[in-house]
Amino acid sequence: MQTPFSFLEPSLGTELYLSRVLNEHAQLSKLIDMEMITPWLQRRNLDLPNEFGSHDVERGDLYRKERESFPMSRPNIQKLVEVIETDNPKIVYDLIGGNGHLATIRQSMSEQLGDSPLFITSDAEHSQIMSAVQKQLPAIRQPAQDTIFLSGSADAVFFAYGTHHIPVVDRPGCWREAHRILKKGGRVVVQDFENESSTAKWYSEVIHKWSLSGHDYDHFNQSEMVTDLSQCGFVDVSSCQIDDSFVVRGKTKDLALADGIKHICTLFGLVKLMPEVDSTASWLKVLDLLSDYFVIPSAMSANTIASEIKVTQVSDEVFEAIFPRVSIVATGVK
Ligand SMILES: C[S@@+](CC[C@H](N)C(=O)[O-])C[C@H]1O[C@@H](n2cnc3c(N)ncnc32)[C@H](O)[C@@H]1O
Repeated sequence: MQTPFSFLEPSLGTELYLSRVLNEHAQLSKLIDMEMITPWLQRRNLDLPNEFGSHDVERGDLYRKERESFPMSRPNIQKLVEVIETDNPKIVYDLIGGNGHLATIRQSMSEQLGDSPLFITSDAEHSQIMSAVQKQLPAIRQPAQDTIFLSGSADAVFFAYGTHHIPVVDRPGCWREAHRILKKGGRVVVQDFENESSTAKWYSEVIHKWSLSGHDYDHFNQSEMVTDLSQCGFVDVSSCQIDDSFVVRGKTKDLALADGIKHICTLFGLVKLMPEVDSTASWLKVLDLLSDYFVIPSAMSANTIASEIKVTQVSDEVFEAIFPRVSIVATGVK
């Protein structure tokens, strides 16, 4: 039987989607606007260009595997989560949530941050949502600019780690959709990287050249982020920068560096750059290339963030390699 829900996750089929997602996650079903489904299906556009699938030229499988085996530096994620949870939200939508990585990391932070709010993972890509559903997370497949969430249903909505994948022309629609689905007083958070920064160049010069899918996206300008959110109706809009460095540990200085390089190259799907032999020495040969991009201007680093790739010894047989990056984060209130 085909019901509208089949289209929310085609490969699951109605029965499985309903039983796994809506029955197991009853709270999610209460957040969906049933009356919107029919018109939504008529205008639905899930065929967005995407590289996070599981086909040969896509990098989704590598990305998901690598992210799970090397969670991002927890202090960085914690800073982002603290912005998202400024007002102690109960319901949070991750609108480009991939396979729910942020939801999973947040669940593991309850000791430091208290119990996690209900994170709903939403993403346009089929493989990402399949993976989230398999992890038992409440997840739904839909474009961020056109969701079927109830108006005024979330306490916080965020776009993080991949916001540049949303075409510039679609971005105001995403912020307006965030505004629609937030409760009054709810918070939007947008994280990405500054145009022209070394990180933006890493994406446009290195990932674009050495991955199979290419990476031709515009990043953001911090002051424009603030203006754009204000123009979409948000108030108390502000922005900040957060340390978003990759931090990888190893038993020796070379192992920490080589594991970090391997992690970064695999995460970003740089298959055309991967050495033929998977050895410490081979990965270290790629260090020079990374050194041009994992570098922070001293004015920005202000002594709190490493300004270039460095390794420090943390204790006996524990070395920490830091590959510096800085995120820009804008936030506003409905
Ligand atoms: C780099 S991935 C990051 C996923 C997730 N934020 C994470 O941290 O793992 C970017 C994600 O954005 C999703 N995406 C891109 N454009 C989108 C859109 N318009 N609506 C919903 N998802 C979108 C892609 O499908 C992809 O899963």
